[in-house]
Amino acid sequence: MKCTMRSDPLDARNWSLCPVEQFDVKESYRKDLAGILIPSGKIEERVKQLAYEVSQDYTKPPLAVCMMTGALKFYGDLVMRMNIPVTPEYLTATSQAGTESKGKVDFHGFDFDVMKDQDVVIVEDIKDTGLTLRETVNESWKAGAASVKVVTAFDKPARKKHDIGVEPHIGITIPDKYVVGYWLDFKGRYRDIAHLCVLKPEIFQ
Ligand code: IMP
Ligand code: MG
Repeated sequence: MKCTMRSDPLDARNWSLCPVEQFDVKESYRKDLAGILIPSGKIEERVKQLAYEVSQDYTKPPLAVCMMTGALKFYGDLVMRMNIPVTPEYLTATSQAGTESKGKVDFHGFDFDVMKDQDVVIVEDIKDTGLTLRETVNESWKAGAASVKVVTAFDKPARKKHDIGVEPHIGITIPDKYVVGYWLDFKGRYRDIAHLCVLKPEIFQ
């Protein structure tokens, strides 16, 4: 483990939405989207910086845990651009019912014991209340991880309720809106949109 270098997140909290018509979004999704918050190119630029930073944290390959399923795209983009190898693991955690946190995290089919004595980097799609990351970080320490770091593509600071116990690497700070695309979903839909989009409120209300 080396000491951590961390750049400020890209701050998209005051960005205006771009019209969906100007982007390559599948026709059947367009009517459900209020607009594009972050075009894929901007996400990719920031992921490249994050990959460089996270790589600097390690002298030997970390156990890189992909928080399924929303983090899949980010995970792939991040680890492919890191300049050190990682040992991949996949963890399914559910904390939300619809667009709201249900106040409890369920972990499925994952043996935390693989973390024993390992440098663990938890790769998450989005931090909302912080509950999922807090619980995952706690379980990692309990399992005997040698070190625990967190990298999240997006963060909604307005919704923060829980301290996650470590200082995360954050890609992009976003407003308090429900977002989809870049493999984030609403009820299993909209993952296959390249850009981060805001859903129309009537879709989830
Ligand atoms: P938290 O535990 O409240 O921080 O919620 C984090 C989890 O909720 C993430 O792993 C996502 O699965 C999901 N989530 C939170 N906000 C959004 C969103 O805007 N779009 C899609 N998924 C979200
Ligand atoms: Mg999740």
